[in-house]
Amino acid sequence: MSSTPQVLIAIIGAGGVGKCFLSQFEFLARKRPSPKLSLTYICTSKKAIYNTDYSPIPTENVLSSLPSSSQTPLELPKLADYLASATQTGSTKEVVLVDNTSSQDVAEAYPLFLSFGISIVTPNKKAFSGSYKLWQDIFEASSKSGAKVYHESSVGAGLPVISTLKDLVDTGDEVTKIEGVFSGTMSFLFNSFAPTSGTGGKWSAEVKKAKELGYTEPDPRDDLNGLDVARKLTILARLSGLPVESPSSFPVQSLIPTELESASSGEEFLQRLPEFDSQMEETKVAAEKEGKVVRFVGSIDVASKQVKVGLEKFDRSHPIASLKGSDNIISFYTKRYGSNPLIIQGAGAGGEVTAMGVTSDLLKVLSQIV
Ligand SMILES: NC(=O)c1ccc[n+]([C@@H]2O[C@H](COP(=O)([O-])OP(=O)(O)OC[C@H]3O[C@@H](n4cnc5c(N)ncnc54)[C@H](OP(=O)(O)O)[C@@H]3O)[C@@H](O)[C@H]2O)c1
Repeated sequence: MSSTPQVLIAIIGAGGVGKCFLSQFEFLARKRPSPKLSLTYICTSKKAIYNTDYSPIPTENVLSSLPSSSQTPLELPKLADYLASATQTGSTKEVVLVDNTSSQDVAEAYPLFLSFGISIVTPNKKAFSGSYKLWQDIFEASSKSGAKVYHESSVGAGLPVISTLKDLVDTGDEVTKIEGVFSGTMSFLFNSFAPTSGTGGKWSAEVKKAKELGYTEPDPRDDLNGLDVARKLTILARLSGLPVESPSSFPVQSLIPTELESASSGEEFLQRLPEFDSQMEETKVAAEKEGKVVRFVGSIDVASKQVKVGLEKFDRSHPIASLKGSDNIISFYTKRYGSNPLIIQGAGAGGEVTAMGVTSDLLKVLSQIV
C-alpha cells in the first residue's frame, strides 16, 4: 500500500514576507492533499518552534506563539543536521528550506543545506549577489545532490523576471541587453521628482515624503547608495552568462552627497539633504532641456559585458519614463524579440507579491522532487 508522500517545510524569517508566505503556505497545504506539506521548523533571529520528533507544527497560531516560545534558533549547521535526519525517518522523503531573511550568514549556509539534499526557496538576494565563488558553490552543491534552489523574488519581487530570463537563455535566445527600474523606492522617488507632466517637488522633499510613506529603508541612504539595484543586476548578469565578481565590480552611482555619507543617522541625513537639492535639480533641468526625464536605472549590455547602475535620461514617451507609483519595469532585448523588447512591469515590492514568488518557487520544487 503506498502512503502519501510528505514534504517538510522549514522557515527561517517571519517578518513582512515570512508572514505572507505562511498564509500562502496554509492555502497550498489545504489545497494539495499530496504531497502532504507539514511545517517542521520556524524561527526568527531570536525564537524558534520545532519538535525533535519532526511532528508537524500547527500553522494556525504559530505566528502568535513564536515571540513567547522558549526555544531558540538552531545554529545553521545543527539545523542542516536536524533537517537532513528527517529525510531518513518514516515516510518523510524531502525537506524544503524557505529563507525569508536578508541574512548573509543564512545565505552562506546554502551550499551545506543543498549538499544534504535540502532544497531552498528564497527572496534573499545575498546568496546570489555575493561573491562569485558562493554562486558557484550553491549551484555545484545543487547539481551534485539533486536538491533544487529557486530565488524568483530576489529580483522584482513576485514579477516573473528570473524565470523569464532563464527561459530565454535555456531555449537558445540571445539576450543582448537588459534594462530597467529595479527599485520600488527609486521608482517612487523619480516618478514624483521628475514626472512626465508637471514639475515635481524638490529632491529632499520627495525623499522625506517617500520615507514617511514607508517606501524607504529606515535610513534612506540604504536605498540611495544604489547597492540594492547593483545586487539585482549582479544576479541577472550572472544568469545571462556574465561571471560578475560582485555588486561592487561595476560602476554604481550613489545618490548620497559625499558630504552626507558620514552623517551619523538617517534623521541627520534627511535634515541636511536640502543643502544639496541644487545638484539633483541641475540634473533634472538638463534632462528637461532635451525634452527628457531622469530615472535611476540598471542596465546590462551582454555583448560588451558592461553592467552599470545610475541616472539616465529617457524620452517622456519611453516605457521607463512613464512608469507609475513604485512599480518596477524590466526590458529584455533579445535576438528573437528584435527591436521591441519583452517588458515585465508591476509591483516590485510588498509582502504578498514577494511571498507569491516564493510560494510559486515552492510549487516548482514540489513538481520536481516528489
Ligand atoms: N518586503 C519586500 O517588499 C521585499 C521585496 C523583495 C524581496 N524582499 C526580500 O525578502 C526578504 C525578507 O524581507 P522582509 O521585508 O520580510 O524583512 P523583515 O520584515 O525584516 O523580516 C526578516 C525576518 O527574518 C528574521 N531574521 C533575520 N536574520 C535572521 C537570522 N540570521 N536567523 C533567523 N531569522 C532571521 C527576522 O527576525 P527578527 O525579527 O528576530 O530580526 C525577521 O523575522 C529579504 O531578503 C528582502 O530583501 C523583500
